[in-house]
Amino acid sequence: MDPMSLISSLADGQFHSGSELGVALGVSRTAVWKSLSVLSDYGLEFEAVKGKGYRLLGSIELLDQGSILQGIDPIFRERVHLSVLPVVDSTNSELMKSDVVDSEFSVLLAEMQTHGRGRRGREWVSPFGKNIYLSVRFDLPGGPEVLAGLSLVVGLSLAKVVSSFTKSDLKLKWPNDVMVDGRKLAGVLVELRGEATTAWSVVLGVGLNYDMEADQCAVIDQPWVSLCESSTVGRNALVSALLQQLLIDLDEFRQRGFANFREQWNGLDFFAGKEIGVVGQELVGVSGGVDSLGNLIIEAVDGVSTVNAGEVSVRTRNS
Ligand code: BTN
Repeated sequence: MDPMSLISSLADGQFHSGSELGVALGVSRTAVWKSLSVLSDYGLEFEAVKGKGYRLLGSIELLDQGSILQGIDPIFRERVHLSVLPVVDSTNSELMKSDVVDSEFSVLLAEMQTHGRGRRGREWVSPFGKNIYLSVRFDLPGGPEVLAGLSLVVGLSLAKVVSSFTKSDLKLKWPNDVMVDGRKLAGVLVELRGEATTAWSVVLGVGLNYDMEADQCAVIDQPWVSLCESSTVGRNALVSALLQQLLIDLDEFRQRGFANFREQWNGLDFFAGKEIGVVGQELVGVSGGVDSLGNLIIEAVDGVSTVNAGEVSVRTRNS
């Protein structure tokens, strides 16, 4: 039996009897019972109560390809090929290795990642049905030097969309962490793929904490926050809005680069006016926001320096 059929039948968080599930899924009650182990494989908690049946502890709005595409303006929809997988090692890794070029933008979403990857080799905690794990592959003219600006633009797209669904105070922590009330809501991982000819093939990955549970996060080494703490937006509506905004911003970025995004980005700078230091270097100063390429400006006592996101990591002093 397709595990997703069982999970869809239980996604409402209500009790469903074995025989009801058997009829809905076209299998015997015994087959239903046997297939329940897949819930545990996916880390989903459920209970079995005699006389009532089975239920998930909590409902899930499963990602739905049709409803996500429906939520995107047709002008953008036709430029996208979108797939949703139940489980994958990493949506970025999957798009990096796939040779299928099915559309201008290949979009891959997963309910769960077994080896979700964050920046700087960190793990990205990716439990089933809880968050957004989204990767987009497309071609980008220009060399790797444009990547700094690109990853900032993606953070900005995220910030614009999220701020339309929450009243919380939202900031961008250079290069591209989306912060809500000082805690990390989302991050972006941009990777280059293959050999460059006239354009680079880029895979950008977005991880957004939607409904993360504290016991799943022991390995996360910084304060984090989930969107559902301050918003009632559904996961599918959120993904539609995010994809549409990404396409709008990527079109602008591909035509005109980062310069037109600079002012918007600096308006959300988490480090603005704070004393910051470059990890592993002597460089300490006050953040002056980003330049027209997306490099961070550090105003030190002995002069102004710029640093590139690919090269360094920055912290506020005393954090
Ligand atoms: C960060 O460290 O802030 C970047 C996190 C990026 C996580 C996303 S989830 C979807 C895509 N697949 C991955 O393995 N990583 C990115």
